[in-house]
Amino acid sequence: AARTRDNLRCPIIVIMGHVDTGKTKLLDNIRRTNVQEGEAGGITQQIGATYFEPKTLLTRCEKLNKTENLNLTLPGVLIIDTPGHESFTNLRSRGSNLCDLAILVVDLMHGLEQQTIESLNMLRSKGTPFVVALNKVDRCYNWKSTTNNDIRSSLKDQEEGTTQEFRSRAEEAKLQLSQQGVNSNIYWEMGDDDWKNSDFVPLVPTSAITGEGVQDILLLLCRIAQEKLWRQLMWCGNLQATVLEVKAIDGMGMTVDIIIVNGTIREGDKVVMCTMDGPVVTEIRGLLTPPPSREMRIKSEYIHHKEIKGALGVKIIGNGFDKVMAGTPLMVVGPDDEEEDIKAEVMSDLKSVTENLSTDKNGVMVQASTLGALEALLQFLRVETKPPIPVSSVGIGTVFKKDVTRISIMKEKKGMEEFATILAFDVPVDKDAREAAEEAGVKIFTADIIYHLFDHFTRYMEEIAE
Ligand code: GTP
Ligand code: MG
Ligand code: NA
Repeated sequence: AARTRDNLRCPIIVIMGHVDTGKTKLLDNIRRTNVQEGEAGGITQQIGATYFEPKTLLTRCEKLNKTENLNLTLPGVLIIDTPGHESFTNLRSRGSNLCDLAILVVDLMHGLEQQTIESLNMLRSKGTPFVVALNKVDRCYNWKSTTNNDIRSSLKDQEEGTTQEFRSRAEEAKLQLSQQGVNSNIYWEMGDDDWKNSDFVPLVPTSAITGEGVQDILLLLCRIAQEKLWRQLMWCGNLQATVLEVKAIDGMGMTVDIIIVNGTIREGDKVVMCTMDGPVVTEIRGLLTPPPSREMRIKSEYIHHKEIKGALGVKIIGNGFDKVMAGTPLMVVGPDDEEEDIKAEVMSDLKSVTENLSTDKNGVMVQASTLGALEALLQFLRVETKPPIPVSSVGIGTVFKKDVTRISIMKEKKGMEEFATILAFDVPVDKDAREAAEEAGVKIFTADIIYHLFDHFTRYMEEIAE
């Protein structure tokens, strides 16, 4: 296929921002789903991806596009949701490394917060273009909402006092952004020069609850992608893919979620991925995606594919996935390729990734449902806990008796007894494992909200210290 402006791939758009600013709710509004209400503690603790078809984008933006007249040429968009909780810097970084374009979500009632600024800096360091959603506009006093309206029409419906509150909060956000060195303006008030300046940031007032402004932000993102980013979005045959997440799923075993950025991947392809123990060469046994407008991180009726074109999020089925590293490339070994060359290429920038996951001789065991959460837990124990807690063993998925047996060895080492502990995040503990732990005096802490696990464990360590 020719590399032309008419043959584009989907842009990859990451949604980032401080905790509870409404990132997942915004996506729920576009998807017409309720992912956010099903999240433990109401917070996102995984990285996810949703593909939107052109017809969905056009339907959502129908009213506004009557006057905007965007001729949509994109084959859809892929949006990556990230957690805003401070523990998940790794996942924000992973999302921002992958994307072409970003939405930085700010709670209009709170202005810029700690992870807003962290996200902003990640995007700037990569030179990634972004728009800011000034979300929760419906919380301005006495806001009169019209479901899924474009935002300018909704603002016209407000009384003077409400408009003034909106204006002063938007000005405050603009000021805070300028203090971070970012020039911005309400998107329909930007001048021609502002649009030409690639560092200038458009602000879009939105409400994830009423859907107001959602068509504005969608249309704006599509316009920026088509009109400013088309060179990097030209479709080409060469596969470019990155591992997004590794997780254990009931009935499926260990699965790897990848983002196909460009090119084509096929069932039966021989691929190379990075693992903790070196490169693994394996065959793609299945290519699964959720239906369009459904979140990949939610278990659903997956669709099986023979072949997939980027950009898309895909769950791959196969063997040898146990120690695959997230954030690393996946490469196909073609008929003319030297397997050894591909292995070397895949492993070339692994060093920084493995350092975080290496284990100590003596220490606790950490088990999590996803690799992303495991990384976040290790960061907490080794960097944020004072003094740092060593970790001797890590894993993804259910805690079994063999895990208890392995960590019970710490009981026999002098001064290491308290490390006979398993921290289990969002994973089941097998019944036999519970019994074995009881017998061996191994402590198991479980939680499905990451900061609860931190709290339980920190309290325990304090008790021991006393
Ligand atoms: P994390 O993923 O945990 O960082 O949070 P998030 O940014 O995805 O925010 P989330 O979608 O979980 O929303 C947080 C809370 O804000 C929920 O209670 C939402 O119902 C509420 N919320 C989100 N958007 C809006 C909005 O536009 N208006 C109002 N009134 N509430 C909102
Ligand atoms: Mg969320
Ligand atoms: Na939340």
